[in-house]
Amino acid sequence: MRQLSTALCVVAFGLGSGLPAAPIAAQDADRQVAQGKAIYARRCATCHGAGGEGKMGPSLIGAKHHLSGYGTADVLFDYTRQVMPADRPGRMLEVEYWAVLAYILHENGLLPPGTTLQDATAPQIALDR
Ligand code: HEC
Repeated sequence: MRQLSTALCVVAFGLGSGLPAAPIAAQDADRQVAQGKAIYARRCATCHGAGGEGKMGPSLIGAKHHLSGYGTADVLFDYTRQVMPADRPGRMLEVEYWAVLAYILHENGLLPPGTTLQDATAPQIALDR
């Protein structure tokens, strides 16, 4: 039974974007960042560097990133969803874009603790600080 509920939980998270918005617990925020880290390694690191330091694509993590130019996280999301990954633009699920950006913002200290990155929260997350 325990295994079954774990499996259901994984499935529910995978389909999360289609579920009605529920109050977000801090645990979900941690999980989103962890999921984003795995997506980053798989889909972004070849061009942006394993630690986001930049390679053929610009730096996304650390002192040299230029994410402040987007102003808020919703603008960064719209840009990223349309053109990234540059070799397969727009080909990821919306929840995957949110997760990978949550990871990138978290690593830059731009994601307020306990915050899940999504439609409702992104406009309030300032990148220019
Ligand atoms: C095939 C190479 C490639 C892959 C894979 C890739 N990118 Fe990029 N990315 C680029 C290049 C090149 C640019 C610069 C585009 C430009 O300036 O027009 C860029 C720009 C960006 C920017 C804008 C940065 C800035 O300083 O304005 C973001 C954000 C971004 N990528 C996120 C991602 C994310 C997230 C992933 C993984 C889901 C990803 N990229 C995967 C090549 C890539």
